[in-house]
Amino acid sequence: MELRFDRHRRLRSHPALRSMVRETQVTMQDFIYPLFVTHEHGYHPVASMPGVMHVGLDQLDREIALLSELGVPSIMLFGLPQNKDDLSSEAYATDGIVQQAIRQIKKTNDHMLIMTDVCLCQYNPAGHCGIVQGDQILNDESLALIAQTALSHVQAGADVVAPSDMMDGRIAAIRAILDEHHFYHTPILSYAVKYASAFYGPFREAAHSAPAFGDRKTYQMDPANVREAILEAESDRKEGADMLMVKPALAFLDVIKTVRDSFSLPVVAYNVSGEYAMIKAAAQQGWIDEQQIVMESMIAMKRAGADMIISYFAKDVAGYLAKKEY
Ligand code: PBG
Repeated sequence: MELRFDRHRRLRSHPALRSMVRETQVTMQDFIYPLFVTHEHGYHPVASMPGVMHVGLDQLDREIALLSELGVPSIMLFGLPQNKDDLSSEAYATDGIVQQAIRQIKKTNDHMLIMTDVCLCQYNPAGHCGIVQGDQILNDESLALIAQTALSHVQAGADVVAPSDMMDGRIAAIRAILDEHHFYHTPILSYAVKYASAFYGPFREAAHSAPAFGDRKTYQMDPANVREAILEAESDRKEGADMLMVKPALAFLDVIKTVRDSFSLPVVAYNVSGEYAMIKAAAQQGWIDEQQIVMESMIAMKRAGADMIISYFAKDVAGYLAKKEY
């Protein structure tokens, strides 16, 4: 009896052939590395994120040089302020930590594309992303401060601003203030689809930004919702967002795919702190093959439709790609 069937294995027989028919590529051009800057001198390891450090301004040139050498084209800056106050003053201070870091990097390395996280939660004692009144996070009252923060970053030299606060109307507010100051050409990367997620846990330790009361569920999205993701992204696009982010990434690949299919703007995946910590922890135990798992995860985000990936693994990926095993 003659069996007739398809031979899918033919194209898997040789490594060169496998790479020729590979549908998804990961390259260093895809990466944005999150970088925490601090007023304190030196490097300070983040316990919950092995390999991630707070970097003092005295070490910043070295850190940027290292990233450049590895081929990382872009960073997302986060700041650890000296003081927190109710108005989140250091978020938009001319000599705030992020503003200082931007000016310093621009002086020493103008190839590095500087994106900045625009938010208030690291800068106020309540640890919320907007102005707090009683147990409420005020929306419209927060917009002016968030816009002012974005403007101060751009005035310091930031190339792209990325608001992560999830207040309604923030893209409109930021676009208006940037245009008013003639920064027509500065793009906005919106954290458009940001879920209220436990995967941010290690970041909040890293950024000292855990909410002092309550949670972020009145402004960040419910992980159960995907139609709402389209509504959020559509509003941000109309308000002037140039790129759309989905965050977290790995438990939300269907959302990345939906945003990819529904919009023509570039889509960015944020491979968040908890996703990083879980892989690092299991690898430290010897339970998984870190390199394989990391690359499989990166491929998955690209395959789902991400054009870019914000990841704490960017340096590791640079090492893997340099070995040309992918
Ligand atoms: C600030 C902000 C957070 C992250 C990026 N920007 C924390 C949060 O919203 O609680 C999370 C990043 C990560 O977990 O890696 N709003």
